[in-house]
Amino acid sequence: MIRYLESKPQYTLLTGATGLVGRYLLKDLLAAGVRLAVIVRDTKRQLAADRISQICDFWEKELGHELPRPVCLTGDVGQPGLGLSVADLAWVETHCDTCFHNAAILRFDSAPRHQEPWLTNLDGTQNVVEFCEATGIPNFHYVSTAYVCGDRSGVVMEGELRANQGFRNDYEKSKYFAEKLVRDADCFQSTTIYRPAVITADAKTGYTNTYHGLHLYLRLMALLIPEVEPDENGVRHTEIRLPMTGEEQRNVVTVDWVSEVMTKLFLNSDAHGKTFHIAPTKKLTPKLVIESCYNYFNSTGVQYVGPEDLNNPIGKFERDFLANVGVYTSYDKVDPIFDTTNLKKFAGGISCPEIDEPMIWRFLKFGENDKWGKRKKRFHCSDFQVEKHLTLLKDFGKTMKSYIDKVDFELGFDVVGDGGGQWYYSSRSNQIHRGLPNDNDQPVVRIKASSLQKIVSQKKTGSRCDLTDSSPIGLLKSFVNADVYN
Ligand SMILES: NC(=O)c1ccc[n+]([C@@H]2O[C@H](COP(=O)([O-])OP(=O)(O)OC[C@H]3O[C@@H](n4cnc5c(N)ncnc54)[C@H](OP(=O)(O)O)[C@@H]3O)[C@@H](O)[C@H]2O)c1
Repeated sequence: MIRYLESKPQYTLLTGATGLVGRYLLKDLLAAGVRLAVIVRDTKRQLAADRISQICDFWEKELGHELPRPVCLTGDVGQPGLGLSVADLAWVETHCDTCFHNAAILRFDSAPRHQEPWLTNLDGTQNVVEFCEATGIPNFHYVSTAYVCGDRSGVVMEGELRANQGFRNDYEKSKYFAEKLVRDADCFQSTTIYRPAVITADAKTGYTNTYHGLHLYLRLMALLIPEVEPDENGVRHTEIRLPMTGEEQRNVVTVDWVSEVMTKLFLNSDAHGKTFHIAPTKKLTPKLVIESCYNYFNSTGVQYVGPEDLNNPIGKFERDFLANVGVYTSYDKVDPIFDTTNLKKFAGGISCPEIDEPMIWRFLKFGENDKWGKRKKRFHCSDFQVEKHLTLLKDFGKTMKSYIDKVDFELGFDVVGDGGGQWYYSSRSNQIHRGLPNDNDQPVVRIKASSLQKIVSQKKTGSRCDLTDSSPIGLLKSFVNADVYN
């Protein structure tokens, strides 16, 4: 099938696509037809492209259909020029008009200015802004945090940043200075700022790939409660005094909702240039979390004693629990009210999932199955990679040359599914290039990687799908067969 894509022709550069929020954004933006390029680091065990391929593969299994594949650029936001190769830099210059900067380090302890979280959150954001300026990217979307408000209480408005606030940790402080830097940058036509509250797992599946925030508490309870032997009735007595009332209001949101909302705002140009608190309608209380966990593990013994100094632990359970919540105790006290006027106006239709006991049980079940992040992950490697068969696409483009009236044309290949990617043939250079044509008037063939794999194997055996078949319709049929992605 040759079709003309309705989405914007230019690419959006997404950072942090391997993280919790990023992998949801990757799925939602690709599914919405946004042309995406991602900047991803290699790890010791996996190349950047394989990491992204594995995430796309995961989503395709969940969704039950193939997704377009992003253009993957190996880089590091901590490096000037984002550590891109010269060729990748040139590619960004000609193909990207938008940046969605989401990468950050969620490290809450204090550190000198030359260490994390400063290097990624502040210097990294500066590198990204400078990179956009140098490559002429005019549209900027930045994932900040609602907690740039630091230790403020009361109502915090979406447009507010500076309010003489103090900060509970260097993460908040580094994100505050990064948001300030983004707001002050004068190289963008529009800057949209997303400020999520505390993000937790997927509301429906309980999926997460990180175990901080709410999951630190869930994990701790899942590890400590079963250590206590149950009594003859199967009840575990896990006595603990908590220095709170249990009714403290917490702003916690699920990652699927955060991503859906951000995608909706991203796709609506009227929402651009604004700041959005991505905060829940109904707040979560520690009591709900703790009691859901106690019910899950059939355990009892929590007392909410208010802001008391708990000097002498009443038992091992209390001592171990309080010793391990460490950096999060500063979040036990104040949580402001985040105004969501802009959010309601532009994404009010997407209702925020309420975190209740069944959902917390889903989080616990997922965490247990995932061994709280320690489950061995299988590294993904595609059986078939179109990247290795680009001459096939070139042959197709060359053959089409004789059937297309224009001297200069570009033909895009949007190869969806495992091993796929996006390329175009340029009649002018007679070469295959990365990405889809910038010009929206140029045709794009959308095909499954698995269909292309069939063509390759049929070509090898010399059967009728051989691309030397003379008629363009015949060639197209070879490409498309019956199972084109829709
Ligand atoms: N999670 C929350 O509760 C929360 C709340 C409010 C706001 N936010 C904001 O939401 C955004 C996403 O957070 P998250 O929860 O998804 O975090 P996450 O799961 O820890 O993911 C962080 C992402 O940033 C990438 N990254 C870090 N340093 C990088 C570097 N030097 N170069 C390239 N990529 C780098 C990571 O890549 P690797 O996989 O290579 O490490 C990963 O993809 C952040 O801006 C965060 O401040 C998060």
